[in-house]
Amino acid sequence: MKKLIIANWKCNPITLTKAKQLFNSVKKGLQNIKNTEVVICPPFVYLEVISRLRKELKLGAQNCCWEEKGAFTGEVSPAMLKNLGCEYVVLGHSERRKYLCETDNLINQRLKAALKKGLKPVLCIDNISQIQKGLKGVAKQKVIIAYEPVWAIGTGKTPSFKQAKLFNNKIKKIMGNNAIILYGGSVNPHNVKGFIIESGFDGVLAGGASLIPKEFISIVKAVETC
Ligand code: PGA
Repeated sequence: MKKLIIANWKCNPITLTKAKQLFNSVKKGLQNIKNTEVVICPPFVYLEVISRLRKELKLGAQNCCWEEKGAFTGEVSPAMLKNLGCEYVVLGHSERRKYLCETDNLINQRLKAALKKGLKPVLCIDNISQIQKGLKGVAKQKVIIAYEPVWAIGTGKTPSFKQAKLFNNKIKKIMGNNAIILYGGSVNPHNVKGFIIESGFDGVLAGGASLIPKEFISIVKAVETC
């Protein structure tokens, strides 16, 4: 099975021109990728333009509404994302839990709406209870889990590959052996192979490194050879 690498651009970059430059540099560096599915998750406002540029790279969003349409100011629905060519959606990121006070219950509603529209949800968690609550009433085979220890996000600190493997195994016990489970938190070209080979993850979610084309391309190339 192909490895999965997701680029979470978060709230970056600040102009469309820069977003196009970043995307085109990444695309240029990833022309002959075969064993890896690469998904770019830009801010909503850049989705349409990047959707037209993307070619074999996949598109994802960083969140989605729990309803298809209606009076939900500031929200973007799964149907809108699907219509723009999005295939994936990141949900329950720790920054949304922290700064937007998103609860497990709300994330669960968002996830159900995403599945209903045929988007592939990537549920970010840093503990087991977030899986159980986030997946309440959901067919778990269709959900991708991203294990992101909060203390590892954007800090340059990472768990040991052994620690990460133990957690990966715990998630597998809940999700089943066929589940796609990613690692996220300070992923870089030097540590990425360890998370794949030693910890057994099916791919990674990269934040900071995804904004630097050279770094992100190196991450994908390293995973290609795993
Ligand atoms: P980071 O972010 O790679 O900058 O640590 C990962 C994430 O928040 O998804």
